[in-house]
Amino acid sequence: MAAARLCLCLFLFLCLLRLPRDAFAAGPAVAGPGAGRGPGDGMNVLFIIVDDLRPVLGCYGDKLVKSPNIDQLASQSMVFSNAYAQQAVCAPSRVSFLTGRRPDTTRLYDFYSYWRVHAGNYSTMPQYFKENGYVTLSVGKVFHPGVSSNYSDDYPYSWSIPPFHPSAEKHENDKTCRGKDGKLHANLVCPVNVTEMPEGTLPDIQSTEEAIHLLNVMKTTRQKFFLAVGYHKPHIPLRYPQEFLKLYPLENITLAPDPWVPKKLPSVAYNPWMDIRQRDDVEALNVSFPYGPLPDDFQRQIRQSYYAAVSYLDVQIGLLLSALDDAGLSNNTIVVFTADHGQSKKVVELVSLFPTLAELAGLQVPPACPEMSFGVVLCTEGRSIVHYFNISEGKVEEGKEGCDDTDRCFNEEPVAFSQYPRPADTPQWNSDKPKLKDIRIMGYSMRTIDYRYTVWVQFDPNNFSANFEDVHAGELYMMENDPNQDYNIYDNTSHGWFFKNLLGFLKH
Ligand SMILES: *[C@@H]1O[C@H](CO)[C@@H](O)[C@H](O)[C@H]1NC(C)=O
Ligand SMILES: *[C@@H]1O[C@H](CO)[C@@H](O)[C@H](O)[C@H]1NC(C)=O
Ligand SMILES: *[C@@H]1O[C@H](CO)[C@@H](O)[C@H](O)[C@H]1NC(C)=O
Ligand SMILES: *[C@@H]1O[C@H](CO)[C@@H](O)[C@H](O)[C@H]1NC(C)=O
Ligand SMILES: *[C@@H]1O[C@H](CO)[C@@H](O)[C@H](O)[C@H]1NC(C)=O
Ligand SMILES: *[C@@H]1O[C@H](CO)[C@@H](O)[C@H](O)[C@H]1NC(C)=O
Repeated sequence: MAAARLCLCLFLFLCLLRLPRDAFAAGPAVAGPGAGRGPGDGMNVLFIIVDDLRPVLGCYGDKLVKSPNIDQLASQSMVFSNAYAQQAVCAPSRVSFLTGRRPDTTRLYDFYSYWRVHAGNYSTMPQYFKENGYVTLSVGKVFHPGVSSNYSDDYPYSWSIPPFHPSAEKHENDKTCRGKDGKLHANLVCPVNVTEMPEGTLPDIQSTEEAIHLLNVMKTTRQKFFLAVGYHKPHIPLRYPQEFLKLYPLENITLAPDPWVPKKLPSVAYNPWMDIRQRDDVEALNVSFPYGPLPDDFQRQIRQSYYAAVSYLDVQIGLLLSALDDAGLSNNTIVVFTADHGQSKKVVELVSLFPTLAELAGLQVPPACPEMSFGVVLCTEGRSIVHYFNISEGKVEEGKEGCDDTDRCFNEEPVAFSQYPRPADTPQWNSDKPKLKDIRIMGYSMRTIDYRYTVWVQFDPNNFSANFEDVHAGELYMMENDPNQDYNIYDNTSHGWFFKNLLGFLKH
C-alpha cells in the first residue's frame, strides 16, 4: 500500500555542529565571508540527517538511553536544543532546510510536488556547494524520495553523482518481523535477526558502509566534499538488530510522563497517529479512533524498541565518525547532525542551516530573500547564526546572547516559526499528512524560549493563502511552568500581542 510507505518525520531540532579542531583555532576570523579564507580553501561538510529522532540521547539528558557515540560527538560540538524544523513532515521539512526556504515558499506541505516546477527554481544547499567547487554526495534518505525530489533526489542539480540508496530499503515495510505466533508480520515493533533479513542486512548498515567507502574515495582524490548521510531509524517501523533490545530490559522502561490528551487541546491540534495504526501489531490491538489509548504494556514495548533503535543508530554514527578520523579528515570537516531536542538557550531554525554552513565553509553567504522571492533562484529565508558562536581553541560554544537580527526577534528574543496543515477541525484519517488539495486549515507556530503560540487559520490550497481573519483555534503554552505543553492558556490570556507579532513576521 503506497500510503503506508510515506513517512511522517518529526525533525524538531538541529542537534550538533562540530567544527574541525585546528582549522578554526584562529578564532572569530571565520565569522564573515571573505575573512581570510580564499576559495578552494574551504572545509568539507559531513551532514548527518536522522529520521524522527527525539531527545532520547545522553547528551540531551536522557538517563536511560545508551548513545555513547553521539554523546562523544556532542562533547566536541555546539549542541542546539531549541532548533526547529519548519514543518514536521519528511518531505516538506527536508525541502525546506535543503533549500533554505519555508514551506509557504516551497509550497510543499505534502509529498506530491517538485518545487522547481511548482514554486520556483530554488538553489539547494548541496547545489550551492557543488557550484562552488565541492563534490556533493548523497547517501540514504536525504531528500524524501518520489515526486518531491523529481524521483532523483534532485540529481543532477544537487549532487555530483547519482545518490546512493541502500538496496534493503525496499524491504522496510515488508513482513519481516517475527510475531508471537511465529509468523512474519509488518509490525511497528520489529527487532530482527539481521542474517535472516532479505539480503542479510538493513538499510542503515548499508548506508554507513557506502558513506565510509565515499570518505575513503574523497581521502584519495583530495577533493573538497559535502557528504549528506540520511539514516532511516528511529523512524517507524522500529526494525533493528535484535541484540540492541538487551540494552533495555522492559521493567526499566517508563511510560510517557503525560500520556493523556490535554483537556484544553483544540481538536484540530490532535495527531491521531495513523502511521502507527497501519502496522499489523497495532491494528490487532483495535485501538479506538482517534484518541486511543494504547495499552500500557504496548506503550512500554514501543518505547523499548525506540530506545533500541536509537542505540543501533548510535553505532552507525560511531562507525561513520571513526572512518572520518581514520581517513584523516576530521581535521577539516564540519560535522552537522540534525535531529531532535535539548537544552542550549538559543532558539534557531533549520532553515538557517544553509547560510550558516556556507559561511562556516568560507563561501559567500547567500543573500536573504526579498519579500516576494518566488522568482529568486538563490536566497535564503534563514539567517546565518555564525555570529552567535564563540569559536576559539578549536572549540565552538554558544557565544553572544540576545538578538542581532531584528527580522527574527521580538523583544530581544530569538524566535522560530513552523507550520502544519490539517484537513479539518477534528481528527481525520488524513490529519497527519493531508494532500495539498485537502488542506483547509494551517497551524502557524511561533516559539521562543518562554512560550509557544499557535494559531490554526483557514487555508485555501488553490491559491496557497492563509486567512488570519478566520482563526479556528489557538494554543499558548508558557514553558517555565508547563515544559511539556499540557496546559493551553490561549482562551484565558489576552494574546493580541502574540498575534500581531506572528502576523508581522509572516508578512515580511
Ligand atoms: C533551474 O536551475 C538549474 C540550476 O541552476 C538550471 O540548470 C535550470 O536550467 C533551471 N531551470 C529553469 C526552468 O529555469
Ligand atoms: C524531472 O525528471 C525528468 C525525468 O528524468 C526530467 O525529464 C525533467 O527535466 C526533470 N525536471 C526538472 C525540472 O529538471
Ligand atoms: C540468526 O539467524 C541465523 C540464520 O538463520 C542463525 O544461524 C542464528 O542462530 C540466528 N541468531 C540468533 C541470535 O537467533
Ligand atoms: C535497570 O534498572 C535497574 C534498577 O534501576 C538498574 O540497576 C539496571 O542497571 C538497569 N538496567 C539497564 C540495562 O539499564
Ligand atoms: C474493535 O472495537 C470496537 C469498539 O471500539 C468493537 O465494536 C469491535 O468489535 C472491535 N473489533 C474487534 C475485531 O475486536
Ligand atoms: C590534523 O590534526 C593533527 C593532530 O592535531 C595534525 O598533526 C595534522 O597535521 C592535522 N592535519 C591537517 C591536514 O590539518
